[in-house]
Amino acid sequence: MPYPEIRPRRLRRNAAVRRLVAETRVAPAELVVPMFVKEGLTEPRAVASLPGVLQHSRDSLRKAAVEAVQAGVGGIMLFGVPATRDETGSGGLDPDGILNVAIRDVIAEVGDSTVVMGDLCLDEFTSHGHCGLLTPEGGVDNDATLAAYAEMAVAQADAGVHVVGPSGMMDGQVGAVRRALDAAGHQDVSVLAYAAKYASAFFGPFRDAVESALDGDRCTYQQDPANLRESLREVELDVAEGADMVMVKPALPYLDVVSAVRAAVDVPVAAYQVSGEYAMVEAAAANGWIDRERTMLETLTSIRRAGAQIILTYWAVEAAQLLRERY
Ligand code: PBG
Repeated sequence: MPYPEIRPRRLRRNAAVRRLVAETRVAPAELVVPMFVKEGLTEPRAVASLPGVLQHSRDSLRKAAVEAVQAGVGGIMLFGVPATRDETGSGGLDPDGILNVAIRDVIAEVGDSTVVMGDLCLDEFTSHGHCGLLTPEGGVDNDATLAAYAEMAVAQADAGVHVVGPSGMMDGQVGAVRRALDAAGHQDVSVLAYAAKYASAFFGPFRDAVESALDGDRCTYQQDPANLRESLREVELDVAEGADMVMVKPALPYLDVVSAVRAAVDVPVAAYQVSGEYAMVEAAAANGWIDRERTMLETLTSIRRAGAQIILTYWAVEAAQLLRERY
């Protein structure tokens, strides 16, 4: 060994010193919990492929939102599950559609005590399951979809949402949404752009949660998992179009993207630990193959270490409770 002896283990000798020198901490305020609300439910319902995650009734959503605030989470991302769907996803634009109603409910309950966000996409509302409107040939019509997103953004803002999260990966969606919000007097509503969103198999369980059956795939609008530089281009465009925050999605299989995006922009960077990431850990833990709590916190720490300052995770409420005890 060289002299003086360099012994990195000195800083690992006990929990106190490890805590002192930890480079990364995850704070409850950086966690955002996605929540699902289904039209017409009187009781919350479990989602089989996402153990611990519920489809809420309007009533149970309000209670869950209060619990999330008490746990100290930084935000709630709302997803609506409509009772019926149509070709154009009109339920997403309707002020009385389930998502807009739920935004009103949650805002009435929690006000400004946390950040209330709405997923801004048509896939939960369309009968074909695509994130946009279709051309007669069956492709996704980018520009017609922008007009729908613009109207949907205003409906969510009218309902009181603090942040809209355009997640459909249409070109120009952030600009279209920003202009519509501004024209409607909603200058103070922020845009969290799902800027780098990959065509990922890890979204599988989410489709159960929103009961969306997709014919085909999303490869003409979501990104190819093979590409990193393309994400930087997407992010740059979204920031130029007025995104207040940008997101990478999924998280754990794309930590290189998180880290590159963090280095490329000055706006806050979020990462979405998606349904499949959560389900993998839950399934392995249920089999006794990994330690659930340790794995959960390790994944969150890793996403944070890669450069995400905000993490969307289905564990947000539980993790916030655990982390509060820890620090
Ligand atoms: C689109 C949207 C999806 C997710 C969040 N927003 C589905 C998709 O793009 O296919 C996936 C979230 C998850 O898997 O947890 N509305």
